[in-house]
Amino acid sequence: MMSLKGKTALITGAARGIGRSMAEGLAEIGANLVLVDIDAHALTAMGVQLKAKGGQVFTRAMDVADPASAEALKVEAESHFGGVDVLVNNAAIGPESISSRYLTDRAKFWEVSDELWLAMLRVNVFGPQLMSRTFVRPMIERSWGRIVNITTSLDTMYRPGIGSYGPCKAALEAASRIMAGDVDGTGVTANVLVPGGPVNTRQVPSENGLPADKLIQPEQMRAPLIWLCSDEADQINGLRLIARRWNPQLPLERRLAEASAPVAWPQLGAQSVFPSTQP
Ligand SMILES: NC(=O)c1ccc[n+]([C@@H]2O[C@H](COP(=O)([O-])OP(=O)(O)OC[C@H]3O[C@@H](n4cnc5c(N)ncnc54)[C@H](O)[C@@H]3O)[C@@H](O)[C@H]2O)c1
Repeated sequence: MMSLKGKTALITGAARGIGRSMAEGLAEIGANLVLVDIDAHALTAMGVQLKAKGGQVFTRAMDVADPASAEALKVEAESHFGGVDVLVNNAAIGPESISSRYLTDRAKFWEVSDELWLAMLRVNVFGPQLMSRTFVRPMIERSWGRIVNITTSLDTMYRPGIGSYGPCKAALEAASRIMAGDVDGTGVTANVLVPGGPVNTRQVPSENGLPADKLIQPEQMRAPLIWLCSDEADQINGLRLIARRWNPQLPLERRLAEASAPVAWPQLGAQSVFPSTQP
């Protein structure tokens, strides 16, 4: 059984859903937790429950896209746990904020308010950028760290009816590839984790007609996340893992073959061609 004892994981959007489940999974293997959410009430309740089970937990209600809050959090995390080793960028404004029936009654792009379109861009793309740039330097100084960005399946990136949610996840996917390149060789890695389909959280309201018990359950995200935090994944950088296909019973090579791909879309092949700078 892998242990994260002595290491600290920061999970954003940890008050419910996938973030909450990932936090519980990391608590079970001994990680100290810094949990962040904009919903103060739900976050406090979550923190109390984890502490009652013996977890080392620090909660901070904040907006992941607010630079002053991110800086204050860095100071608090350092004073509580000596810093952050694992950052999971999970918080997002979901498609259900456009319409609770977004899979059946699809809003046209001209029907989505500018405010919501931009709010998604701010939280779902700038949020991970801000949190990553705030916490990555100490990881590089310690020559160990993990950044895990939660994006989504390719077809959701261009699914109609969900405003900028899909394009934001595509942007985060591209940003993740840049992050992976920038941290390469430092001991820090940046990877993407996706569920691989709709998950049983408030992002998939029952009005859409999908049976909750047939959806991916949030707990499925735990095993691939825990593996990404392990020493076995020290050299794994710029990879996207698909939780639905992650089968811990398989030998590692086959598991990765079935449940991973490079971050972003290098296989599309339409790479830009630069003119030679040689005379
Ligand atoms: N549920 C799915 O089907 C699904 C599928 C693919 C990817 N994802 C992604 O997985 C992640 C978790 O999704 P979920 O289904 O658990 O969603 P959720 O809505 O249940 O939880 C998201 C959490 O993020 C918090 N949050 C929102 N804005 C915030 C902000 N500005 N600052 C801090 N916290 C904020 C919310 O309060 C909420 O607790 C998201 O990135 C989501 O896009 C979800």
